[in-house]
Amino acid sequence: MRKVLVIHGPNLNILGQREPEIYGPATLDSINQGLVSLAQQLGVDLKVVQSNHEGEIVTAIQQAMTWAEVLVINPAAYTHTSVAIRDAIAGAGIPAIEVHLSNIYAREQFRQHSLVAPVCVGQISGFGVRSYGMALRAAAELELKPKA
Ligand code: DQA
Repeated sequence: MRKVLVIHGPNLNILGQREPEIYGPATLDSINQGLVSLAQQLGVDLKVVQSNHEGEIVTAIQQAMTWAEVLVINPAAYTHTSVAIRDAIAGAGIPAIEVHLSNIYAREQFRQHSLVAPVCVGQISGFGVRSYGMALRAAAELELKPKA
C-alpha cells in the first residue's frame, strides 16, 4: 500500500472562514474527509497533519523519512518564503507534490514564486479543493525510484 503524508501549512486550519472568495467554502475537516475516502478507493495508506509553524513542518517532513513514500504538501504562505521547508524536502529525499487551492500564478507577484517547487516532483495549483484529490491520485500513481 502506497504510504502518503499530506501536510497542510499555516492558516489552512481556518479554511471555510478564510477569504472564501479565494479559497472556497470547504473546511479543512471536509477536505481531509474527502482525502480519507479517496485514499480508501485508491488503496493509499494516508496520514494528514496541519501546522501553523515552520519548524513543526520541517520536523514532520523529517519524521516522514521513516514512513512516507510520497509527500503531498500545501506549504501555504511558506511556499514563498521558506528555505527551511525546501531544504527539508530536498534532504528527506521523499518525492513531494506541491498543492495550492488557488492559482498562485494568477495572484499577487509575491505569490508567483515558489521556493519549494524546484525540489518537488510537480505542482498542482488552482483547482480549489480538487487540487488535493488530483495530488493524491498523482501520489498513488507516481513511479517510485529505487533508493540509491
Ligand atoms: C495557498 C496559496 C498561498 O499563497 C497562500 O499563502 C495560502 C494558500 C493556496 O492553497 O492557494 O495560504 O497555498
